[in-house]
Order: sequence, then structure tokens, then C-alpha cells
Amino acid sequence: MTATITSIAHYLPPDVYDNSYFESYLDTSNEWILERTGIHQRRFAKSGATSDLIVPAAEQCIAKRGISKDEIDCIIVATVTPDHFFPSTAAVVQNKLGLKNAWGFDLSAACSGFVFALTTAAGLVESGVCRNVLLCGADKMSSIVNFQDRNQAILFGDGAGVCLIEKSNDSSMGMLDHILRLDGSGGQFLHMVAGGSFKPASAETVANGEHYIYQDGKNVFKYAVVGMAEVTVEIMKRNNMKSEDVNWLVPHQANHRIITATAERMGISREQVMINIDKYGNTTAATIPICLSEWLEKGLLKKGHNVILASFGAGFTWGAVYLKWNMND
Ligand code: COA
Repeated sequence: MTATITSIAHYLPPDVYDNSYFESYLDTSNEWILERTGIHQRRFAKSGATSDLIVPAAEQCIAKRGISKDEIDCIIVATVTPDHFFPSTAAVVQNKLGLKNAWGFDLSAACSGFVFALTTAAGLVESGVCRNVLLCGADKMSSIVNFQDRNQAILFGDGAGVCLIEKSNDSSMGMLDHILRLDGSGGQFLHMVAGGSFKPASAETVANGEHYIYQDGKNVFKYAVVGMAEVTVEIMKRNNMKSEDVNWLVPHQANHRIITATAERMGISREQVMINIDKYGNTTAATIPICLSEWLEKGLLKKGHNVILASFGAGFTWGAVYLKWNMND
């Protein structure tokens, strides 16, 4: 028995910020941002929390599936920008949506959050612990980005992707394989210094900007290229897939150059890769479900397609999932 995605939707806040927004106050340029990252614009939520990005996507996802909210028995929220340390954002979402029969939890795996949570949700469904899992990948990155730092301000955006995970009646469809990795020695290159139990928030940590993202972009870039290629090539090999068998690579959208390098190592062409980083930047746990939802809406993602999801993020966390896509819009 396999687990499968039975419905998917996404939400992006309406306010669009072009690269010119940063040109207006930082020492940067549209040309530099486009050339080094592939990002043209991103969305920032002017108010609200991560749960407010999730709720509209979740409402749409549940409505598309046509099931009652009472049938959902678990909520997983992959995020690094929870509404609060506690209670979990899953609890906030449960209350806002009125999912009265659901339990749930948050999962912290940064940009690999969706891939880790998808594998977790599939395990819960395949083992019979759950029937319907509402899986949310969402981040309000604008709440932790240092807008005065040109090395990071231009990279991120806010957004949410939500899907339902249920049992597949056909075991050749749905979630067919996964490779997940965690290497904590990479934490030094991408983290938030303060605000946790290691260094609780104080006037000093705020004054030092330690509640923002700390990122050594060059090192993250290097490890991301190697890590994503390692898992994608391995998952193809052990499923006897050649490059022409892959309908879609759905890479985490962190940098256009990382995406291109991954596709090259897999031997696949630009036409086989979902890319929307130009419009939304890096929305962390939301990038992959937003891609899937958009491509499904456009009619480009079809039942029976071989789909490889690939991610890399803070931790370091990275992984690949092989899906045989199992739904039409
Ligand atoms: N505008 C103009 N110049 C900028 C800039 C910006 N927005 N950001 C950085 N620069 C400058 C740097 O200060 C540096 O200048 P210097 O040589 O005078 O010091 C120069 O550009 C080159 O910096 P470098 O770090 O080598 O650039 P890069 O090509 O590695 O690109 C990133 C920087 C951040 C875009 C890139 O490293 C990256 O995408 N890393 C991965 C980040 C990531 O994925 N994070 C999320 C987790 S998955």
C-alpha cells in the first residue's frame, strides 16, 4: 500500500516586491539579483502570521477534495517561522479551520520541511495510524529576514502550499521512494543565533540582529549543489529511471543556479524542471508544494507522471522523493 497526494492548493500574499524595491535602499541591482539568483520578484505578507498563509490554501485544498473537515485526522505544519514557539502552528491551524477530529504537530527541517513532512505523513497513512493528513508547507520568511543585509534580503519570500495525503488504491501510484539526509555539522552555515534556549532573546540579542537569519551563502550554495545532486541521482538509479523517464524535477527554489546544476547532474533538460523562483523567491517549506499546485492548475502535471522532488536546507537537511503523480486537477 502506498500513500498519495489527493488534493493540493497554495496561497501567496498579494503584495508583490520587485527587485527595484531593494534597489531603492540597498547597495544592489536588479541585474545582480537576476543573474546570481534568478529572482525577479517575491511576495511579502504585510500582516498576519504563517497560519494566515496556510488557512486560505487549506480551505481550498479541502474544498477541492470534497471531504468534510471532520474527516481530517492529522495536521503537519512544516515551517521555520511558526506563529509561536508554542503552541504549535498545527494547533493554531486546527482551531482556525475547525478541524475538530485532528491531532497534529510542527516539523522543523527548513527548506526540506515539505519533503520530510511528506515522508512522515506517508508513513502515518501507510501504517494505518491516519487516514487523511493535512500537510502544510509554509513560511513567512519576512518575519526573520534581515532587510538591511543585501546577502539575504533579496532571496526570500512568503507563501504556503497545502496538500492532503491519503491511501492510494493502486500501489504503483503515489509516494514510491524517498531518500532523506540530516547533517548537523552544517548548522554553522545557516541558522538563527538567538531566540531559542541556547541564547534566549534579550535587548542585546535584538540589538545585535541575532534574531535574523545567519547565512554563509557561499558554503550553503556549495553543499546544496552537491547534496541535491547526490540524492536525485541515487533515487533515479535505484528506481531504474533514465533522464527521459523523469517528467518533472521539482527542486526547492533557493537559487536558479542550484536548480540548473541539479538538473545537469541528472541529465535532464530545462523543460523537465518546475521553476517559479523568478516570481516568488525562496519561500522555504512552501516552494515545492507551490510548484506542484501551480503546474497542476496549468494542466502540465498529469496523472502517471514521474515526479522527483528535491530539497536542501538548514541543518543541513536534504532529500529526494519519487512520486508517481496520481491525480488530475
Ligand atoms: N547585490 C549586490 N551584491 C551582492 C548582493 C546583492 N544583493 N549580495 C551579495 N553581494 C556581493 C557580496 O557582498 C560579494 O561582494 P564582495 O566580493 O565585495 O565581498 C559579491 O556580491 C559576491 O558574493 P558571493 O557570496 O560570492 O555571491 P554568490 O554568487 O555566492 O551569491 C548568494 C550569493 C547568497 C545568492 C548565493 O551564495 C546563494 O544563493 N547561496 C545559497 C543560499 C541559499 O540557498 N539559502 C537558503 C537555504 S537553501
